[in-house]
Amino acid sequence: METVTETSWFLACRVEDTIPNGGVCVKRDDEQIALFYFSRQDRWYAVQNECPHRRQMALSRGMVGTAGEEPKVACPFHKMQFSLASGECLSGGECRLKTYRVKVADGNVFISKN
Ligand code: FES
Repeated sequence: METVTETSWFLACRVEDTIPNGGVCVKRDDEQIALFYFSRQDRWYAVQNECPHRRQMALSRGMVGTAGEEPKVACPFHKMQFSLASGECLSGGECRLKTYRVKVADGNVFISKN
């Protein structure tokens, strides 16, 4: 029997608090989440803010772009690149980012808790 898990959400910020084609850091309890809005694709992404390479809380300040159609962020420290869609390391590393779902309603940005 398949288990259906319902997504629960928390209010992260307002749309106007974010930077098109850039990142902001959202704090939830002890967790930091990097939130990105890609205006060209009109898509939102959220990943852990901690870079798994040297555990720097830095990805929200990373350089965003695309690899083909894959949205990505490059850590500002040593430039490792990660897919914002899957969290996969695009620089050949085995580390991976935790990803979160994002939804927008009435100008509010919500991030999934699970
Ligand atoms: S700390 Fe992010 S690439 Fe090294």
